[in-house]
Amino acid sequence: MEIVKSTPHCGAEVRGIDLSRPLDDATASTLEAALAEHCVLFFRGQSLTPEQQKALGRRFGPLHLHPAYPDILEGHPEIMVIRADENTKRIAGEDWHSDVSCDSEPPLGSILYMQEVPPVGGDTLFASMYAAYDALSAPLRGFLAGLTALHDGESTYRGRYEGMKASDRPYPSAEHPVVRTHPRSGRQALFVNRIFTRRIVQLAPRESDALLAMLFQHVETPEFQCRFHWAPGSVAFWDNRCAQHHALWDYYPHRRRGLRVTIQGDRPYYRA
Ligand code: SIN
Repeated sequence: MEIVKSTPHCGAEVRGIDLSRPLDDATASTLEAALAEHCVLFFRGQSLTPEQQKALGRRFGPLHLHPAYPDILEGHPEIMVIRADENTKRIAGEDWHSDVSCDSEPPLGSILYMQEVPPVGGDTLFASMYAAYDALSAPLRGFLAGLTALHDGESTYRGRYEGMKASDRPYPSAEHPVVRTHPRSGRQALFVNRIFTRRIVQLAPRESDALLAMLFQHVETPEFQCRFHWAPGSVAFWDNRCAQHHALWDYYPHRRRGLRVTIQGDRPYYRA
């Protein structure tokens, strides 16, 4: 197995591995460490059945069930169908985010297996939240260290999937540290995102709005990013604890389709 960095701060391609086969302990542990270091891992030329994709995800933890997403693979409640075509009104992940950060225990990571790609376009951007944190000035890092933010699923999901059989349950919301410590690497990562983070709890509304606007812009700095160009059989495994991602929808009206499993995570914390 060979692990080749995609950019200095974000992403690595893993070569010489067949993800359809059960991973032995040493391989799973190498991938876990590589994920925590590079924030997202890419694999090419894979062929996975739904059962094999679920088994791959389960190697890293129990699978997560999405609280809102209505397009689920029949017979596989743990698999989200990520698709767009000429009838699509809205795609999944169309702005910078960390998956379902509104959960009290947001997902550890997600594994997307691409099956069909448009003739051109449909790339996904990933950004390292370690790099985003490290690039802040020391006084600002000190200020953010004690703060928490509200991540709200209600205002994000209610009405989002209109016309699809969306759930009418209440959606989760949670308060998380603005800077979270990665449980495996021990590094600090910025943990606020445009899709879910509504306000910084300890600040006045105007202060919170201004600081979040600055941070949202900061996390999108090109130097923190890598960009993945998909082919059928590509797999991306991203770490929601230290990465954000943004799916590009520049290929309308063409089709793109993939299957995603999501791995349960734990409660974010900050440790100095
Ligand atoms: C997502 O799961 O957020 C979508 C990612 C993608 O379609 O590239």
